[in-house]
Amino acid sequence: MTMSFELPQMPAGFVWGAATAAYQIEGAVAEDGRGESIWDVFCQRPGTVVDGTSGAVACDSYHRWRDDVELLAGLGVDAYRFSIAWPRVVPAGQGAINQAGLDHYDRLVDALCERGIRPFVTLYHWDLPQALEDAGGWRVRDTADRFADYAAVVAGRLGDRVQDWITLNEPYVSSMVGYAEGRHAPGATEGHGALAAAHHLLVGHGRALAVLRAARPEARVGITLNISPAIPATDSAADREAANRMDLMLNRQFTDPVLGCAYPDGFERLYAGVSDLSFRLPGDLELIGAPLDFLGVNYYYRIHAADAPLDQPEPARRSAFDIGVRSAPRDGVPLTDLGWPIEAQGLYDTLTGLAGRYPGLPPIYVTENGIAHFGDDPAVPDPERIRFVAQHLSAAARAVTDAAVDLRGYFYWSLIDNFEWARGYAPRFGLVHVDYPTGVRTPRASYHWLRERLSARTGKA
Ligand code: NOJ
Repeated sequence: MTMSFELPQMPAGFVWGAATAAYQIEGAVAEDGRGESIWDVFCQRPGTVVDGTSGAVACDSYHRWRDDVELLAGLGVDAYRFSIAWPRVVPAGQGAINQAGLDHYDRLVDALCERGIRPFVTLYHWDLPQALEDAGGWRVRDTADRFADYAAVVAGRLGDRVQDWITLNEPYVSSMVGYAEGRHAPGATEGHGALAAAHHLLVGHGRALAVLRAARPEARVGITLNISPAIPATDSAADREAANRMDLMLNRQFTDPVLGCAYPDGFERLYAGVSDLSFRLPGDLELIGAPLDFLGVNYYYRIHAADAPLDQPEPARRSAFDIGVRSAPRDGVPLTDLGWPIEAQGLYDTLTGLAGRYPGLPPIYVTENGIAHFGDDPAVPDPERIRFVAQHLSAAARAVTDAAVDLRGYFYWSLIDNFEWARGYAPRFGLVHVDYPTGVRTPRASYHWLRERLSARTGKA
């Protein structure tokens, strides 16, 4: 089947890329001195991952990384965003450094550079060393310091070839989904602890940023935030207020401090009774809000927020605190197999919204955007993925034109199918199908579609 969708014109120097993350693709969890991460432990707890699986083998990319590099080169992308597993580099989270773990990433970076593919390295994509969790995890400030130590080690080894660094991936998910909802590792259901985790993650971001800049003056450092614009499900005042609460919790709890503002107005009210916020210390906001070289944005969907009064508890509510909002997609909005609304307009709103709200907004990369489907036949064409990518890119291009958003690149999530955290292996996000029993990779129609367009752009064969 041929699809007529084309890539929009993007600014000169626009970076086309694909993304993955260590725990979702590497496997080899007990090899070459890797320490245990919170995800290893979490997956072993019954009922945490829907199909009872884990990242123990995943795509076996720890061994098959050369295949992945070949796939990237064949696709013709400019850049690859991947993450480093902290427990491979510092198995106990602090103290002894594991050179064998660093060697792996050293080889990967070399291979990428040989192929002319720019590495974008994420330092933390959710795999906290379990030893640090045992000492309090992100609830305690010390973890932020240990993160900065680890960042220094990685910069020391890879910083001669890596210039683009992403400190954290989606601190909202690490903190609120991991420490409040308990749907992700470490599986805690706390209120104060989750807010402390969110804050300490950001402190860790600030400390790592300073360390990277000191170690490598030429480094470009950013952070990746998941952004989901919240729109009211109806025009009622209650739903408008619900959308505002959602925006505060999901987006502005992170964008405001990271982009140099105070925590947003209404934040304290939102969490009144949950926490005294005593983990905030003088000087934190300066550290967290230090200027960035770029902001990474992960966009998947926008939220249709409906008021869900607290006196009508729903079984779906699992959070230790509750802001009284439920998701209520409007009729007619198409959904992915994961039930996520497909609305490219949300990416437009994300980009123009950031540009409108934050003067001095740094350049932006869309560090993730993608669609999952269920079903594991590699031969099945994936026209919905092609449509999704084309529509989202065209929305992003419109944001550049309409609001002069300084958009520098787009990374599709994901290069290959992988372990979708608590959802296991059923959701497949890849441009490339992975047959998990054998590890065999098969590019999908969407891969070929993108490859043809990228090669037309670069003139490369
Ligand atoms: C964002 C996360 O960074 C990534 O790990 C995950 O697989 C995708 N969202 C899809 O849910």
